[in-house]
Amino acid sequence: LLHARRPTPGPRRAYQAPDRRPGRRVPNVLTGKRILLVVTGGIAAYKAAELVRVLQRHNATVRVALTAAATRFVTPLTFEALSGQPVATELFAPGEESQINHIQLAREADCLVVAPATANFLAKLSWGLADDLPSTVALACRAPLVLAPAMNVAMLEHPATQDNLRRLAARPGVVLVSPAAGELACGEIGAGRLAPLEEIAEAVLVATSPKDLDGLRLLVTAGPTEEPVDAVRYLSNRSSGRMGYALARVAHRRGAQVVLVSGPVLLPRPPGVTVVDVRTARELQAALDQHAPAADALIMAAAVADLRPATTAPGKLRKAALGDSLPLAPNPDLLAELGERGVPPLRIGFAAETEPGLEAGLAKLAAKGCQLLALNRVDLPDRGFGVDDNEVILLDRQGVVARLPLASKERIAAGILDQLARRWRELPAAPAGADHE
Ligand code: CTP
Repeated sequence: LLHARRPTPGPRRAYQAPDRRPGRRVPNVLTGKRILLVVTGGIAAYKAAELVRVLQRHNATVRVALTAAATRFVTPLTFEALSGQPVATELFAPGEESQINHIQLAREADCLVVAPATANFLAKLSWGLADDLPSTVALACRAPLVLAPAMNVAMLEHPATQDNLRRLAARPGVVLVSPAAGELACGEIGAGRLAPLEEIAEAVLVATSPKDLDGLRLLVTAGPTEEPVDAVRYLSNRSSGRMGYALARVAHRRGAQVVLVSGPVLLPRPPGVTVVDVRTARELQAALDQHAPAADALIMAAAVADLRPATTAPGKLRKAALGDSLPLAPNPDLLAELGERGVPPLRIGFAAETEPGLEAGLAKLAAKGCQLLALNRVDLPDRGFGVDDNEVILLDRQGVVARLPLASKERIAAGILDQLARRWRELPAAPAGADHE
């Protein structure tokens, strides 16, 4: 589901080693978080080894507990080596219990992840059984719980498993990561494969994020627009969509209901976010007209093409027919129009600039009638267009509100959303059921 095609890296980045400094490239949003990973006995247990790595890449500290059945598929040594921590297996094992106290494990965890979760373990969780170390830890744990089931399709579809999944999903603090469909270890085809690891990591991020945007209805635009000349040619702007997608993802993790209006990009869809695909500026305008009245806030990260070809040919134009100039028509300024109408009540714009200084940003903020504007430079190689990092200066009418130094786009998104959260809380409450005028 996640990780569709990734955009081809530009020549500058092609041979660049990954930058592992804190705050760089890898979105290190799990810094300081302690994850307890319970691995239960299914063939997908081997994938849990890589999950340790994925969670560590988000800067989490991972401890692992294995059920007895899991130790038949994978060894504690594998997980000890990967996690750099002792691995818990049996309850009351001589020596082990004093070294790894099961109540202590439960208390320490900021999030409990069960991956893969077998039908048997789900049943135990559902009914509160505690007959081995992992199930005892799970019962003693108050932290959010992420469950990633994996099993044979018939076991998954069995009414008993389905009942247990429903009961567990309805419990506060539980995030269920649905298994994927495909070829199963037993040779059958169907649902039951462990979900992609990035999807499980995303569920951990959802489970561990503060829900300070709970109730916020947020509209985000992202990516470029494409303005067709004919069936094969178009005018567009440089934009990978990553900043807008990061905003949508992080806002969803923090509890917002997010609609993401996206131009054509090569990015995986953020889970839990409603995505509306558009191509042209006028399609983007129609999507905004439809969704803005029901939103509390808009973040306009899309790179809207300011001009479009005056006419679009239905087929492919011959070279000779193109001539040496292309008649153009202006596109509407979508943010400015919404600013005039005051819809939605909170509006954040972006300004892509190639010059230092705040003047252009302040002028755009006023011209577009938005409350906040994120000013970013797009002429520097290590930030902005097509890379994972950004640096932003947030402005309001009085001047600089916050400087968000060079960091991953997810961290920049978090900084922008902090400011949005403050202003949203200060908004007068809309009368119940009323649309914003
Ligand atoms: N924007 C918009 N509609 C347009 C152009 C831009 O809504 N037709 C929005 C962008 O999404 C962004 C903000 O306006 O949030 C500023 O976009 P930017 O491209 O920096 O500015 P422009 O208005 O296009 O001005 P200029 O090209 O002269 O810098």
